[in-house]
Amino acid sequence: MNRRHFARLAATGVAAAALPPFARATLAGARAGAPAPKINAARLNAHLTAISEFGKNPQGGVSRMAYTPADLAARAYAKGLMRDAGLTVRVDEAGNIFGRRAGNDANAKPLIFGSHIDSVPEGGNYDGNLGSLGAIEVAQSLAESRIVTRHPIDVVIWQNEEGGIWGSRLVTTSVADTELATIAISGTSIRDGIAMIGGTPAQIAQARLTPGSVHAYLELHIEQGGVLDKAGLQVGVVEGIVNYREWDVTVTGVANHAGTTVMPDRHDAMLAAARFTEMVNRVVTREAGRQVGTVGRIRAFPGAPNVVPGRVECTLELRDLDDAKVQRLYEAVAAESAAIGAMNGTAFAFREFAGARSAKADPRIRALIQSSAASLGFTSASLPSGAGHDAQNMARVCPMGMIFIPSVGGISHAPNEYSTPEACGRGAEVLAAAVLAVDAAALE
Ligand code: HGY
Ligand code: MN
Ligand code: MN
Repeated sequence: MNRRHFARLAATGVAAAALPPFARATLAGARAGAPAPKINAARLNAHLTAISEFGKNPQGGVSRMAYTPADLAARAYAKGLMRDAGLTVRVDEAGNIFGRRAGNDANAKPLIFGSHIDSVPEGGNYDGNLGSLGAIEVAQSLAESRIVTRHPIDVVIWQNEEGGIWGSRLVTTSVADTELATIAISGTSIRDGIAMIGGTPAQIAQARLTPGSVHAYLELHIEQGGVLDKAGLQVGVVEGIVNYREWDVTVTGVANHAGTTVMPDRHDAMLAAARFTEMVNRVVTREAGRQVGTVGRIRAFPGAPNVVPGRVECTLELRDLDDAKVQRLYEAVAAESAAIGAMNGTAFAFREFAGARSAKADPRIRALIQSSAASLGFTSASLPSGAGHDAQNMARVCPMGMIFIPSVGGISHAPNEYSTPEACGRGAEVLAAAVLAVDAAALE
C-alpha cells in the first residue's frame, strides 16, 4: 500500500470509533430505513463452521470447486438454510440459487444480495461463504424481527465464481454457446456442470437480468488483502473492483528424445514457457501502478523425464482497475511471447476463457454502507478490490455496493484464510443495516 492510499484511508474512513457517542447517534438517526434486525452472530459462525465440512482439506480449508460432489453437497446445505430462513428457493437456468422473500410493494424491483460457496483448490473457509451465509442470516433476522422490506429481496448464491465468475456473468451478459464448452477445473464442461447443479443450459437466456430490472445488488465479502487488518479498521466500503482477464496459453514445440536431441536442435516448449513466466513478471512490474500478472498453472506434455516437452499448457491472468491498461499489458505480453518463441522455434497461442471488466460501486450505495457502519459504531474506510467478485457483473444491470471485513494477515485463497467470528458478525450487521437503507433509498 502506498502513501497516497494511506492518506485516502485517513481522509475517508476511520469513522465512528473516532467520533464521540452523540455524533454516532446523530449519524444513526440520520440514516434512512427501519432499525436493523438483530443479527445472530453465533448462528452465522456456526453455519460457517458447518459449511467448511464440505470438501474439507486434511490441512484445513476446503477444496470445493464448482460441479464437484462437495459443491453439490454444500449447495444442498445452503438451500436448507435458505428454507429455514423462510425463503422460497429456486435454481435459475444458469444454476444460480435464489431465495426470495416478498416485499410489500408489488411493483418494486428485487433487491439482490449474496455471494458464492465454491472455492479454489486448497482454498479457505470464508471467501464467498461469509457473503452467502451472511445474506441468509440477514434474511432470517428480517423474518424473526418481522420486518417487511418494500422491495422483494433475493438472497443469491452464484455458481462457479472461482472458475471465472460464471454464474453472474451468464445472467448479465450474452455468453456465446461455444464458451459453455470450456472445461472447468472439475473436468466437466460449464454446460454439463450447469445441468449437474440443476440449471438448464439450453435456456440460459431466460435467466437474464436486464439493465434496470434490479433495484440494487449488495455483497458482503472478506477483504482478501491486508489493508483493513493492518490499519485496525473494522469495515471496508468498496470503491471499485479490478478488471480481471484469464487466458489459456498453449506453447507448441517439438517432442523429441531427451538423450539424443542435442541442445541447439531442440524446440523445447517448457523452456519457452519458463521464459514466458519470467517475462510476464517483468512486463507487469516495469511500470508504476497496482497492476498484477500471474502464471498460476502449468503442465508439460507428454510429461516424462526423458522427453523434450513438445507442448506446454499454462495460464495467464492480468488485473488492474483500468481496463485499457490490462489490454495494453496483454498486447505487450503477446508481442514478447512471439519473440520468445522465435528464440527456439516454438509458437504461443492465447485463448481468453474468463474474466470480468472493472466496475465502480455506486456512490449512493457506498455512502449508505458507510453510514450503516457508522450507525453501528464500526470504524470503516474506502478501498478498492483487487479480487474479482460477482458484484462486478451485477454492476452492469443495477447500482452495486460491497462490504469488506478484515482478513487476518491479508491471507486468502489458501487454507489459513481467517476472519474472526466478531468480524464476521459485524459484516452481517452492516449488511443488514445496508439492506434496509438501500431498500428505503430511491435509486432510479
Ligand atoms: O478474484 C478471484 O480470483 C475470484 O474471482 N475470487
Ligand atoms: Mn476467491
Ligand atoms: Mn469470493
